[in-house]
Amino acid sequence: MEELALHLLDLLENALAAGARHILITIEEDGERDRLIVTVQDDGRGMEAAALEKALDPFYTTRTTRKAGLGLSLFQATAVQCGGTLTLESQPGQGTRVVAAMRLSHPDLPPLGDMGATIATALSREEPVELIYRHRRGRQEFQFSSTWLQLHLGEIPLNCGPVLDWVQRYINKGLAELYGGDQS
Ligand SMILES: Nc1ncnc2c1ncn2[C@@H]1O[C@H](COP(=O)(O)OP(=O)(O)O)[C@@H](O)[C@H]1O
Ligand SMILES: [Mg+2]
Repeated sequence: MEELALHLLDLLENALAAGARHILITIEEDGERDRLIVTVQDDGRGMEAAALEKALDPFYTTRTTRKAGLGLSLFQATAVQCGGTLTLESQPGQGTRVVAAMRLSHPDLPPLGDMGATIATALSREEPVELIYRHRRGRQEFQFSSTWLQLHLGEIPLNCGPVLDWVQRYINKGLAELYGGDQS
C-alpha cells in the first residue's frame, strides 16, 4: 500500500468491526535505533487462538462483504519488506494489539500519508469510540485524544462533518509541526 495511514485505516476498521470502544494508536520514530513502530491496541472482542493463527492468512476473513481478508497480511508484507515484522496479540473478550516494526531508513518505507483522514474516518462511525493517537518522533510528540475533544465539544457530537473536518486538519497540522514543515 502507498501510505502507512491506509494500513492504519484498515487496522482501525478491524478494531471497530470487533466492537472496540477504546483504541490506542501509537507511532514511534526512533532515528537512533532506525526503527519505526506502529501499534494499534483495542478493547474489542479479540480472537481465539485458532482465529489468531489464521488472521495473517490472506484468505482468512470473518467479514461477509468480501471474500479475502487482506488487511493484516498486506501490512505484514509491507513490514517484512521494510526489514521488520508484524505481530498480533489477542485475548478473547479483552482485545487485540497489532505491532508493526520497520526500518525507518528503509527505501521502501511508505510515506505516512493522510493520518488526519484516517483518524477522522474512524471517528465518523455511528457508535462512539474513544480514540487516542500518539506520535513520537525522537524527543518530540504529538497527541490527539477524542475524549479530550468531546469534553470541549459538550453536547455537539464528534461524528458530524464540521468536527471531523476540524479533526483531520488539526492532526495534519500537528504532524506538519512535528516534522518541522517537512512531512516526508
Ligand atoms: N482488531 C481485531 N479484533 C478482532 N479480530 C480481528 C482484529 N483484526 C483482525 N481480526 C480478524 O482477522 C480477520 C482478518 O483481518 P484482515 O486481514 O484485516 O482482513 P478483513 O478485515 O478483510 O477480514 C478479520 O476478518 C477478523 O476476523
Ligand atoms: Mg481488515
